[in-house]
Amino acid sequence: MKVNNVEMIMSAVRPEQYPTEGYPEFALAGRSNVGKSSFINKMIGRKSLARTSSKPGKTQTLNFYKIEEQLFFVDVPGYGYAQVSKSSREAWGKMIEQYLTEREILKAVVQIIDLRHPPTKDDKIMYEFLVHYQLPAIIIGTKADKIPKGSWNKHKKIIREKLNMRPEDPLIVFSSEKGIGMDEAWGEIKKRM
Ligand code: GTP
Ligand code: MG
Repeated sequence: MKVNNVEMIMSAVRPEQYPTEGYPEFALAGRSNVGKSSFINKMIGRKSLARTSSKPGKTQTLNFYKIEEQLFFVDVPGYGYAQVSKSSREAWGKMIEQYLTEREILKAVVQIIDLRHPPTKDDKIMYEFLVHYQLPAIIIGTKADKIPKGSWNKHKKIIREKLNMRPEDPLIVFSSEKGIGMDEAWGEIKKRM
């Protein structure tokens, strides 16, 4: 999908601040610094609309990106970022949990995982949360540009096994650096709109 029109709606921390358009929403989940904001930027063809950073913890609120008056990407703060205080981690958990469990127009969670490494404990907890609440997931194995193409399938297999993925959830090899996997990711999103 070629995206021409994107509007960043707002930073929300409470349900009253969520957008009211009613378009289908796709939330990005993933460990801090894994590449969630980079995924959004690549998918919408903007270099830096969603803030990215080499320092983890850049995204701290729910940020809604309205795409072509059709759907929203929701950039969610990353999990597993140790530098934040316990109280703000708890506030984080509440905000995310409330959004993920109560938002009816949330169509799927796009969970971003580093293709290079086996899923972390936090990746597993996140995925189990989605299974528990019966939320459809699209798993993105990103940073594929950093490992040889010949090893992608092996890494995919490890992720599928270690997460104990539901067969209906897709796992897409991706690179925000090289644009690998974009069409496949758009295809899976459109199917769920
Ligand atoms: P938080 O907002 O802190 O949770 O991080 P995030 O998940 O949004 O990560 P972000 O998109 O800011 O990316 C973190 C770092 O990884 C940046 O330095 C990116 O340039 C880099 N990065 C993201 N995706 C890729 C990729 O596909 N390939 C490569 N080589 N680097 C990537
Ligand atoms: Mg981010």
